[in-house]
Amino acid sequence: MRRTPPAPLSVWRALNLDDFLLGVPHYPEHVDESDWARDAQRMAAAGFNVVRLGEFAWHLFEPREGVFDFSLFDRAIEGLGAEGINTIFCTPTATPPRWLTATYPEVLRVDENGRAARHGSRQHADTSSPVYRMHSRRITEALAEHYRDNPNVIGWQTDNELNTTISTSYSEATEREFRRYLANRYETIDALNFAWGGNFWATAYGHFDQITVPRRANPTFPSPGHVQDYHRFLAEATAAFQHDQVEILRRVNPDWFIFHNLGRLDDIDFRGQFGRDLDFMGFDIYPMLYDEMQRAGGHPATQALHLDICRAYSGNFIVPEQASGFGSQPGFSTMTPEPGEMRRMALTSVARGADGLLFFRWRPAHFGAEIYWMGIIDHDDVPRRRYQEAMQFAGDIARIKTDLLGTSVRMDVAIAGADFDNQEAYRTYPIGMPSPIEDAMRLHRFCYAKGISCGFIHPEDDLSRIKLLYIPHWVMWKPDWDEKVEAFVRNGGTLVVGAMTGTRDVNNHIPRVQAPGQGLSRLCGVRVEEFGRVAEPSADGLFALPPTEFGLHVPATRLSASSSSRRYRFTLGNREHEAAHLYELLEPDVDVEVLGRWSNRFTSGRAAITSRKAGEGHAVYLGTYLTDSLAEGLADQLFARAGIEPLILDLPPNVEVTMREAEDRRLLFVLNTDEEPVEVSSVPAGTDLLTGKEVTGSLLLGPHGCAAIRC
Ligand code: GAL
Repeated sequence: MRRTPPAPLSVWRALNLDDFLLGVPHYPEHVDESDWARDAQRMAAAGFNVVRLGEFAWHLFEPREGVFDFSLFDRAIEGLGAEGINTIFCTPTATPPRWLTATYPEVLRVDENGRAARHGSRQHADTSSPVYRMHSRRITEALAEHYRDNPNVIGWQTDNELNTTISTSYSEATEREFRRYLANRYETIDALNFAWGGNFWATAYGHFDQITVPRRANPTFPSPGHVQDYHRFLAEATAAFQHDQVEILRRVNPDWFIFHNLGRLDDIDFRGQFGRDLDFMGFDIYPMLYDEMQRAGGHPATQALHLDICRAYSGNFIVPEQASGFGSQPGFSTMTPEPGEMRRMALTSVARGADGLLFFRWRPAHFGAEIYWMGIIDHDDVPRRRYQEAMQFAGDIARIKTDLLGTSVRMDVAIAGADFDNQEAYRTYPIGMPSPIEDAMRLHRFCYAKGISCGFIHPEDDLSRIKLLYIPHWVMWKPDWDEKVEAFVRNGGTLVVGAMTGTRDVNNHIPRVQAPGQGLSRLCGVRVEEFGRVAEPSADGLFALPPTEFGLHVPATRLSASSSSRRYRFTLGNREHEAAHLYELLEPDVDVEVLGRWSNRFTSGRAAITSRKAGEGHAVYLGTYLTDSLAEGLADQLFARAGIEPLILDLPPNVEVTMREAEDRRLLFVLNTDEEPVEVSSVPAGTDLLTGKEVTGSLLLGPHGCAAIRC
């Protein structure tokens, strides 16, 4: 496996390795040593080339402080290596050993109510604690030095899903570090008081030592500036924690690749130092679990959404954990992939940017908090359908990898994403509105179902390859991005700016000019005169969440009695739509075309959706939030004019399609996400690399059937 230095972060970036990493996370410490040789042989027979080891085994590496023992893993790595299986090693900092938490209890996270975490699960140590960072450096150094010249160890994963269980801490150490961060950021307390709005509710401070970590409601809301900076601090602390480890690993062996496996995306600024420190990102994909948590339109669409969101941070990635079977922890369980579905889900990951994939996990555990989390092999040591599918997938990869590696995922419709400040700014002051991702999901789902290539992109990235850019209500739109999006429009792109965009500055202050701010107002030719809340279509009240979540103590009965339905409607083309969440009344310039108008109540006749031609392209302003019908209405109005077409016309339900492309080749993935066979027509002519057969026009896919057509 050869590594070249990584290119700058971009959604278009391919992986910097010359082979496809394929294998499993593996826990030899859970397996009787007499089974190890057969495990390695079976992995090799399946076509794997790599395992990931060690992320929860610090207690074995360092059974007592300063006493190291790597012998178990040395033997495991050697045995795997003998069968041609390389090792990705992990820094084990998600699970400090008991001696560490007992001797240094100050490293434990503390919750909002002052309760310190106890030893006995995972991610209980506070990554912003200087004492914990010292231990993290120590164990990383010891492991790195030990494996410095081991030819079987080819790369590293830092920690495990940082911030997934929890990202916040209210410990004394966190508070001290938070103050240090603020002193560094603002230099003077006056500057901080200005940024946080100290003259509101007498929240001004006399010096940095008076500042505490913000609580959600204590007794009511803190300033959004205070909350935003706490999350900026957490992201910086997480990046610093990882940076300590990366620095050591790079110094010890610069040939190693380094990545992190992301789970939840909380309090990590991937486009900041966190992402720049890595060779590429790893995204753990559990489609059934994510879908059940979010209820986001079925697990295939949810998997696609997650992968597309993740790709925006840094381009192609690996999947260090791809769901293989039934999954559970004591409090929940997930649906089980049906025959053929594990392979199809893995190919979905590849189709959307994975250049490496590990099925979670080789064998299931017989003890601990994940005993029913199935692996490739069953508890009784018998390889069954999941092993066969993993082997089939390995065959698929062998057939496509020469064409695949070096390509990026095509994207005609792009949604602005991957911006830490905007994600956090929303959360500091959500007012019951959907988050940018919740809103964007409607456009993504529409494109997914129609077979239109759609993804996410940061406005600082290369916009020249997309046709339409949708900005989903980014309140903290930065004026620095104006020039870039204006050039995109002038060169023929279509920009669609959602309501509330540009309504706050970097401090969460409301600017003193009309929204969406000077640059976007000029480009779109509109200013927002007034805005107001509307109920979701077919909902009665305004509160999306129980009011107590917002620190309000209004009895539910009073709420429903007092919240009357406030439906607003608007027309777009020849259809009338019911508005969701918000209306804005727009003041359009004379050169602006009004695409949609409010059609009832006092707003009747006022502009709701506008479009202005600028250069070769158009800047559209949307004075409301998306609904499913509005996403469809916008597509009708804008897509053909922007040259956006489905990859396959008349795509049948339950079929997903994406394209990976480079200058000299295109690979069209057509995947049946259902157990019923399906015939897909209007498929471009080419060779299905998975079967070696020519495809001309129509394609029959069996249950969970897949094709990768070179065309
Ligand atoms: C991931 C985690 C793994 C395992 C898996 C299944 O989030 O990284 O260690 O817990 O989920 O629950």
